[in-house]
Amino acid sequence: MDYNPFAPEVKANPYPYYTHLRHQSPVFQVKDAGFWAVSRYDDVLYVLKNPQLFSSTILLAALLGDLNPVPEAANLIASDPPVHSRLRKLANRAFTPRMISALEPRLREITTDLLSAVASRGEFDLVHDLSTPLPVIAIAEMLGVEAADRADFKRWSDDIVHAANGIIGEERELAKKSVTEFRTYFEEVIEARRAAPRNDLISALVKAEEEEQMLTSGEILSLATLLLIAGNETTTNLIGNAMLALLEHPDVLARIKKDPALIPQAIEEVLRYDGPVHGIFRQATQDVELAGTTIPSGALVFPLFASADRDENKFPNPDHFDITRKTEGHIAFGFGIHFCLGAPLARLEAKIALQEMLGRFHHLTLKAEGFTRIDSFFLRGLKTMPLTFDIIATA
Ligand code: HEM
Repeated sequence: MDYNPFAPEVKANPYPYYTHLRHQSPVFQVKDAGFWAVSRYDDVLYVLKNPQLFSSTILLAALLGDLNPVPEAANLIASDPPVHSRLRKLANRAFTPRMISALEPRLREITTDLLSAVASRGEFDLVHDLSTPLPVIAIAEMLGVEAADRADFKRWSDDIVHAANGIIGEERELAKKSVTEFRTYFEEVIEARRAAPRNDLISALVKAEEEEQMLTSGEILSLATLLLIAGNETTTNLIGNAMLALLEHPDVLARIKKDPALIPQAIEEVLRYDGPVHGIFRQATQDVELAGTTIPSGALVFPLFASADRDENKFPNPDHFDITRKTEGHIAFGFGIHFCLGAPLARLEAKIALQEMLGRFHHLTLKAEGFTRIDSFFLRGLKTMPLTFDIIATA
């Protein structure tokens, strides 16, 4: 059983391959691609805990190449300490859990508007109609994008996110145009907020100050780009993966429909059982021995979060979807200094999406044509999920 993350059968269901890797080759060099997949929980944690041995600086170049809108500025996710420490402290000041929980009423309103638009149809596509627009609108509003500019923002966001999935040819040229438009638009927004702050994230980032340090306009732009790449498709995938796990476990679906207070713990189990981000690259800064194998200096390393979260030494009976299990310690949002900045937002959006959908739509059923998956070796999620539901007559 050879692990090739690019093979269609692995993308369709990577979990048996992860089990094999953990048991047989916990540090495995992927043929042709050359990078080293790390699959056991303890080893993945070791990689994430040691940025001096496993650097993140290659990350954005590996994801975006020449489509990075701000190549000249350091980026949070693609930096190591001490640069990362400074950027993270400043980003934390703007992106606080309190600021996220204050968004709840507005996120609920966006969700109910999206669901109301399909309520009389008796069918919808979960991905197209709910799980894609919700995070995009949320981030657009957080960044202070005017409603009139929302369609442009969505196009730039899609093009930049697709670029991160490795598009080529004509589409890449279109993405370059979007990158330039995105940059020009936000340069203007940043300058406008410097002159007249509002109650939005860009204003908070402009104001963020820590130990007499502030973010440059380039760093703010770089962070705004990162929010698009890191925050949209991942959240879309969490909502889709959650609905799929529930449809595949009708007993659990019935239980949480009856007791919606179980939704947050069900989301944690979805994150562990079928998380949206399966792995992310690091680069070895020197020869490193891990699980008896030497990874050479300069090599790309691929810690597999999703395999770690199915490690039987950490989570007993790991292939069983069990919303009552202890999920503490799952690393679907990463671990350590790069732990996901948007985790509270993603959890909140997923909770609201499930609460509102399960509360309003009864007998949710997958249509006969079934779902389709996105085509990615490091993200896991659905591209389409056509569902039907009962239309309840309202007086
Ligand atoms: C379910 C949804 C999400 C998942 C599974 C997820 C997963 C992750 C993971 C695994 C990392 C660590 C990357 C690494 O170690 O190199 C990360 C970092 C990050 N995420 Fe998320 N993410 C999600 C949603 C979001 C959202 C909604 C936002 C913001 C709007 C966001 C913003 C970020 C940022 C800025 C970082 C970099 C933090 C740093 O380098 O210090 N993410 N995310």
